[in-house]
Order: sequence, then C-alpha cells, then structure tokens
Amino acid sequence: MIISIANPKGGVGKTTLAVNLATTLISKYSDTRILELDLQRSSSLWAGYRVERGITPEIPVAVVSSVCYPAHYPL
Ligand SMILES: Nc1ncnc2c1ncn2[C@@H]1O[C@H](COP(=O)(O)OP(=O)(O)OP(=O)(O)O)[C@@H](O)[C@H]1O
Ligand SMILES: [Mg+2]
Repeated sequence: MIISIANPKGGVGKTTLAVNLATTLISKYSDTRILELDLQRSSSLWAGYRVERGITPEIPVAVVSSVCYPAHYPL
C-alpha cells in the first residue's frame, strides 16, 4: 500500500503526519518506509533526530531526489 501525503500549501502538517503515521504503521508492518519527495528532506531530518536520541522505532527513509535544499533545524 502506498499512502501519499501531499498538499501545495506549506505548514499544514504534511511532515508531522508522515512521520507519526510511519511510526505507527512500522510496528505492524515492518516493511514500512517513507519515500522522501520533499526537497527540504524534513522527514529524513526527523528520522535522523530519532536515531540520534535512540528513539524507537527507527523509520527507514528512501530519498527520491538527489536535489536537496536542507531545511533549517528545528523545523
Ligand atoms: N495536528 C496538529 N496540531 C497542531 N500542530 C500541528 C499539527 N500537525 C502539525 N503541527 C505543527 O504545524 C507546524 C507545521 O507542521 P509540518 O512541518 O508537519 O507541516 P508541513 O506541511 O510539512 O510544512 P512544509 O510545507 O514546510 O513542509 C509544525 O510546527 C507542527 O508541529
Ligand atoms: Mg514538511
């Protein structure tokens, strides 16, 4: 199953929803992963933040584009 979270409007909770949904789904479906389409790579930042702090479950993120405009942190 692929769940797409997309909205052209900024700051409406796309990243928050994606990361929390993945966190919930991964406990039931171990092949859950986020496909990062955001050129700011916000989900990747959050996944890394969790790893740095030892927060489980770890969320696998596959970055789709080699183009990157890193977001300022914290988002
Ligand atoms: N359900 C919610 N209730 C209250 N605040 C929320 C909720 N979801 C997200 N937020 C807050 O709203 C802000 C924007 O969320 P988020 O970064 O997920 O949006 P976004 O759509 O991914 O933004 P961007 O367009 O910049 O990628 C964050 O400060 C986040 O903590
Ligand atoms: Mg976002």
